[in-house]
Amino acid sequence: MVSIVVGGHYGDEGKGKVVSYLALKDDPTYIGRAGVGPNAGHTVVHDGKKYGLRMISCGFVNPKSHILIGAGVLVDIKRFMEEVQMTGVGGRITIDKRCPIIEQAHKDADKDANSKKIGTTGSGCGPANAARVNRTAKLARDFPELKGYLGDVPTLVNDAIDRKEEVLIEASQGFGLSLYYGNYPYVTSKDTSASTAAADLGVGPTRVDDVYVIYKAYMSRVGEDPFVHYLSDEEIAGSPVFAGLLKKAEEKGLQGTGNQKIAQVLGEVGTVTGRPRKIGSFDYELARYSARVNGATQICITCLDKLFPECAGAREYDKLTNEAKEHVKVIEEKVGVKATIISTGPDVYDVVDLRD
Ligand code: GTP
Ligand code: IMP
Ligand code: MG
Repeated sequence: MVSIVVGGHYGDEGKGKVVSYLALKDDPTYIGRAGVGPNAGHTVVHDGKKYGLRMISCGFVNPKSHILIGAGVLVDIKRFMEEVQMTGVGGRITIDKRCPIIEQAHKDADKDANSKKIGTTGSGCGPANAARVNRTAKLARDFPELKGYLGDVPTLVNDAIDRKEEVLIEASQGFGLSLYYGNYPYVTSKDTSASTAAADLGVGPTRVDDVYVIYKAYMSRVGEDPFVHYLSDEEIAGSPVFAGLLKKAEEKGLQGTGNQKIAQVLGEVGTVTGRPRKIGSFDYELARYSARVNGATQICITCLDKLFPECAGAREYDKLTNEAKEHVKVIEEKVGVKATIISTGPDVYDVVDLRD
């Protein structure tokens, strides 16, 4: 079985959390990182430890799984080495020999006026992908320090599929950030849909069984674009849930606009950039469209506990409050796909798993 996990909104939906849960639950032979590169910041909390990962899949938490980085993904060597140390996966990780390498010049170029206008992460991804298209980028195989980690990822993955083993693919960013389908030009440097994630690892479309599209129970956005679902003061006042969060923020003496106060209560600060994220109400239309383009077979809703604190840590459907159940039901109905994984806390196992 091949399963792909992708973001259905603007990134930071909690793909890292969902992937780490699926990794432990489904015991994949291979867990592959797809997506753009180290512009992503995926977070996993396991055994009381919090990991912020930009290169290595959050699926590393399963010590039996072998970790991959697909040829589609840009590699920052320094960051990669740091994460190998942090996670201890040195003996069970393979980078495709064709991964392009991000160099200092790419990072420098990612601070120019256009990058500022878009509000990029500054990680060098856009300029490195441009160099790849120009066929001037260096590849992983050109760097002796990576020698012990290199391999042919498509062969490994397709052999495992032939043996009927589990393969889990972790994409990065979200549908609204797709170079093809997102809010251009405020997008990342590549398509972010499931088809591209499969191609990143060298998996053909006929071999994919499941696509999990992840949404947060509300929306967050980093970057400089106009964000249509941005919560204004009036909308906050008109929503019992958001008005409650604002009240909590004010009791804590948090500073900023109403939206920024809510962002702080929700803990919405960028993993890579440290910037406060903009908060929005759930965009059903984008969610439905992204489920279609991704070919969603199941959807996952994360951070339900942040809107409905009584649900924190729930692992059974019946432990969710009626309001929370209703929120999930409306999303399912409007998106048209069943919600099978509901996340109720940052810990790997804070999940209501409704899969068959
Ligand atoms: P990108 O690839 O950067 O788009 O990231 P991502 O989709 O992996 O999400 P990221 O880790 O950046 O952000 C999600 C944040 O929410 C992290 O801090 C997680 O620990 C946290 N989180 C995920 N699921 C839940 C949940 O259900 N409840 C709570 N309280 N926190 C959660
Ligand atoms: P870049 O990918 O660094 O070029 O940034 C382009 C746009 O995508 C900017 O709006 C970034 O904030 C956004 N972006 C890139 N990666 C992520 C991510 O992992 N989470 C959320 N936003 C992201
Ligand atoms: Mg993130």
